[in-house]
Amino acid sequence: MDSIGEGRNLEMSRIPVIAGNWKMHLTGESSGALAQAVADHHGGETGRKCLVFPASVHLGSVGSVLAGTGVSLGAQDCHEAAEGAFTGEISAPMLKDMGVKVVLAGHSERRHVFGEEDSRIAAKAAAILGSGLDLMLCVGETLEERENDRTFEVLDRQLAALNSFSPEEGPRIAVAYEPVWAIGTGQTATPETAQAAHAHCRAAVAGILGDEVSASMPLLYGGSVNPSNAGELLSQPDVDGALVGGASLTIENFGPILDAARNA
Ligand code: PGA
Repeated sequence: MDSIGEGRNLEMSRIPVIAGNWKMHLTGESSGALAQAVADHHGGETGRKCLVFPASVHLGSVGSVLAGTGVSLGAQDCHEAAEGAFTGEISAPMLKDMGVKVVLAGHSERRHVFGEEDSRIAAKAAAILGSGLDLMLCVGETLEERENDRTFEVLDRQLAALNSFSPEEGPRIAVAYEPVWAIGTGQTATPETAQAAHAHCRAAVAGILGDEVSASMPLLYGGSVNPSNAGELLSQPDVDGALVGGASLTIENFGPILDAARNA
């Protein structure tokens, strides 16, 4: 239930993954209440996977709420070192110790607000998998890159963070395609645009980790997903899930997105 890849099989079916990235929002109390509401709504369904990524200070309390509910606990970021003099940082082994199952690497806010470069993200990805945690690698182009027809080149460069991994590690990896221009802007990619980027990502992953891993790897779309557009995005053949920011902060919005995954 915890591994991103679990439940996949040789028919290459991909169970929809709906993930809520709570970013730097909510209090201890409201994150616990939202976690409970998500768990209740999810209802332990096995036809989809549900994950939430609370702020790191709330991982312990949210993890307690989620225990045994089938909703997996994720972390938004980690440092690439296992330990050391890095004031304010949290390592992958520390997250594992907290009950975290999945960690994001390369979220666009880490790349563009905090200046993390591809080499740093690759090191974080290696630390995450090396600690026995699952990896959700986020990739996506800026508006300028899209307008200059560089989207696929950017995706290839960012997906190269997977170069050092083996096909055996494939089942512990998911990729989230999140065009930077769509994150938090209300400007969702059209289903066709998302599908084209996802198909490109899947082909690129095949080149790195092989066809079998690529065919069964969950590829999530992120960027202004909401209850109105989730169904159409999720119905695209290479869109296997959604990484949801703003609309994951209330069950009124997140619940229908979970429901859309059931119908995808
Ligand atoms: P958004 O964020 O849904 O608010 O656009 C998505 C994300 O940053 O993961």
